[in-house]
Amino acid sequence: MHPLGATDSPCDARKLGMSDLLNLRQEARARMPAVVAPPHLRKATAQTWRARMRNEYGSAHVFEGLADQLKALGQSAEIVAEVERFALEERKHGALCGAVVEAMEEEAVTPPLESTEYPTHPEVSLLEGTVRNLLSICCLSETVAVALIGAERLEMPDGPLKTLLTEIYGDECGHSNFGWRLLPTLLEAQEVDEALIERLGRYLRVAFAHLEKHELMHLPDGPPPPPEGAALGLCSGRDARKLFYATVTRLIVPGLESHGLPARHAWENRCFGS
Ligand SMILES: [Fe+2]
Ligand SMILES: [Fe+2]
Repeated sequence: MHPLGATDSPCDARKLGMSDLLNLRQEARARMPAVVAPPHLRKATAQTWRARMRNEYGSAHVFEGLADQLKALGQSAEIVAEVERFALEERKHGALCGAVVEAMEEEAVTPPLESTEYPTHPEVSLLEGTVRNLLSICCLSETVAVALIGAERLEMPDGPLKTLLTEIYGDECGHSNFGWRLLPTLLEAQEVDEALIERLGRYLRVAFAHLEKHELMHLPDGPPPPPEGAALGLCSGRDARKLFYATVTRLIVPGLESHGLPARHAWENRCFGS
């Protein structure tokens, strides 16, 4: 899930009818990995992967929005098709995460993410609005996802769950890489001047604040799960938080700075109002 589509209000299952629920049982059961969890970890495993299923599936619309924006900007059909494929991959990730829920003998059903509008940033040009979203989606969120999933994958022993996670990881690498590849091309446009770069810096202050809030919300600072949890994707939230900060400060900030964006100042001065 991407913070630009984030909402703080949790979905209340009690107010939803069955037809309003996100039900991926069929797709999930078709992909069920042969994972056996010790009984004391089954509930936590199902909970973790159900939350992932909801976030992954719910993030697809962000790529649909980005594909539309890139198309409007006159980007090639190949680029637009690549981003449209990312949306399909996020829905597939939803089904893969649901498959782990079903493997725990629970149901891949959850309240969906609250639908939020894709930000088009009408107060700035189409190019500038697109760069903002590319930064937030690919260079920030997806890059953090690559780091977190990559670390989880390294801790996981070989087996069907690692194979499933590797499929998700490979796609997330593609989503992140796309942003870092396209960014310099978009920044080469004639309308990109000092004032636009400065405005992007101001946008990044807000984007970083949302990213941090979103990630910390999903990475609990409580006691770590037992060591056998790593085989099921149950990771220490505390370690993941450290990795999040390292990814931002050592990878994302220097990466954006290398493209001429004032990312260090933006990170150090992150705030919710521009
Ligand atoms: Fe994903
Ligand atoms: Fe992704």
